[in-house]
Amino acid sequence: MYDPYYISLVNDVKMPRLGLGVYQASGPDTQQAVKWAIEAGYRSIDTAAIYGNETEVGNALKESPISREELFITTKVWNSDQGYSTTLEAFERSLKKLQLTYLDLYLIHWPVANKYLDTWRALEKLYDEGKIKAIGVCNFQPHHLDSLINVADIIPMINQIELHPFLSQEDVRSYCKQRNIVVEAWSPLGRGKMLDNPQLKEIADRHKKSIAQIILRWDIQNDIVTIPKSVNQNRIIENIDIFDFSLSPEDMASINALNKNERIGDDPDNFHF
Ligand SMILES: NC(=O)c1ccc[n+]([C@@H]2O[C@H](COP(=O)([O-])OP(=O)(O)OC[C@H]3O[C@@H](n4cnc5c(N)ncnc54)[C@H](OP(=O)(O)O)[C@@H]3O)[C@@H](O)[C@H]2O)c1
Repeated sequence: MYDPYYISLVNDVKMPRLGLGVYQASGPDTQQAVKWAIEAGYRSIDTAAIYGNETEVGNALKESPISREELFITTKVWNSDQGYSTTLEAFERSLKKLQLTYLDLYLIHWPVANKYLDTWRALEKLYDEGKIKAIGVCNFQPHHLDSLINVADIIPMINQIELHPFLSQEDVRSYCKQRNIVVEAWSPLGRGKMLDNPQLKEIADRHKKSIAQIILRWDIQNDIVTIPKSVNQNRIIENIDIFDFSLSPEDMASINALNKNERIGDDPDNFHF
């Protein structure tokens, strides 16, 4: 049966369909944002070693009245730590900063050439040892996934990619769907850049919702996990208030039609960091 709040990963782990992203949030802002998010009903937080705020995420989780089992915590191994033993070490550092005994999801942050297959072996080991409930990748194109799946024991459960109405990533989504890889959207709001789009505004006005809520609802109805970032309490509350309405097939089609394959972030086939 369809669960409006959780999606099942291939290993039956239940992942919240919506979480809080904390990229570009300072330490103190992060701690406060995670606290507000949990109060507002969020159970999933997406951080990364490179964001430099794992400690503050951990502090907020420690103060939260919500039990560990109800929370879903994601972090990522950064590019300079990729490789087998360096990833195992990076994982332990992240876990310590987050003040956790296990992670819900650990992701490879970018497909660093000549490294990501070794990095993946480390994630498989950590998964087999029960230190992570689910493992996945970010910014993998189908050809990266092909080369990984060719040698891997475990197929990634998640692919977290840049995805919003101006970059709908139909090809990666259809590849992932065929292989039971759940797609997760980063920069779902295009970092705020599409929040004055007239077509989205028309749909938003009709539903008495904001443009941000329309975009996040489009994600949910596409079975795309979404992790909008905000450090503003009103916007944190606004972004989770998307479970009391539905977009019609016509609304969904008009949002699909906004795609222009326009990236905000780096191209996974051409990055140098
Ligand atoms: N795997 C990767 O390579 C990767 C790359 C980038 C991001 N990510 C993850 O994805 C998360 C989300 O992406 P993102 O942070 O790049 O961008 P985003 O979520 O698309 O947009 C965040 C921006 O929109 C503003 N905002 C949030 N809610 C709003 C609302 N309801 N109305 C108006 N403005 C709103 C935020 O400002 P305020 O904070 O002031 O509200 C912030 O400036 C990140 O935080 C991170 O966890 C992953």
